[in-house]
Amino acid sequence: MNTSLLEIDNLEVRIGDKTILHGANLTIEGGTVHVIFGPNGSGKTSLVGAIMGLPQYEVTGGDIKFKGESILSLPIHERAKLGIGLAFQRPPAVKGVTLFHLLKAVKGSEDNILPAAESLNLKDYLHRDINKGFSGGEIKRSEILQLKLMDPALLMLDEPESGVDFENIVLLSDIIREMLQKELPITNRKKSGLIITHTGFIIQHIQTDVGHVILDGRILCSGNPQEILQIIRKHGFEKCVECLEKREKR
Ligand SMILES: Nc1ncnc2c1ncn2[C@@H]1O[C@H](COP(=O)(O)OP(=O)(O)OP(=O)(O)O)[C@@H](O)[C@H]1O
Ligand SMILES: [Mg+2]
Repeated sequence: MNTSLLEIDNLEVRIGDKTILHGANLTIEGGTVHVIFGPNGSGKTSLVGAIMGLPQYEVTGGDIKFKGESILSLPIHERAKLGIGLAFQRPPAVKGVTLFHLLKAVKGSEDNILPAAESLNLKDYLHRDINKGFSGGEIKRSEILQLKLMDPALLMLDEPESGVDFENIVLLSDIIREMLQKELPITNRKKSGLIITHTGFIIQHIQTDVGHVILDGRILCSGNPQEILQIIRKHGFEKCVECLEKREKR
């Protein structure tokens, strides 16, 4: 029997004493790319943070399975070794550690690092401290560079296009498509994606398979990403609030 790559079942997550995710469900099959829409504060970053195992997100209910096994007891580095990778929405700057040092720890060989950095126009940034003084767009490219070298099976991208200029969105999208093995038939792809976006701009450049709306810590609906985006553009998330209210009355 085929198991899904990622299965999130009724996930409840708390930060401090505030519950952020109230029973989120999501299944990602191998080779597919999912996109999550949702207003500010709806729990998008918390969802990917909980999947990655970041310590501030305390799982108080439900389960997260990767390749059929629960990963809840695993620390971040074990989840990364299994093939889960996250490009952060707002990564911290790391003083005293250059981007090159980090990439060398990830990948070992310089032969891989230089061409990858060149492909993202980041060759001149390798000897700078990670993210220190980087512009918003440079930080996003640096996140994608790190992920490219980690080469995870599940790429989670938290607002990859936010703050990136038009030319660099095209560049980032080309690299992300390559990382997702979009050139292969879907059944041959070994990579899956979970992309968070506000604007939906990135999905004009990267074909995605399933869209979801998250509101108030619940994944409300799932369907064709372009159709969902059209509805949100036309009616705002108010339409989604109606769905939430209907669901809660049931
Ligand atoms: N350390 C914290 N303490 C208290 N509340 C927090 C903390 N971190 C996050 N939250 C709250 O959790 C909720 C969900 O935050 P999250 O970052 O997941 O939202 P988001 O959907 O990613 O929003 P955005 O679109 O603005 O990135 C927000 O109301 C936020 O204020
Ligand atoms: Mg966020």
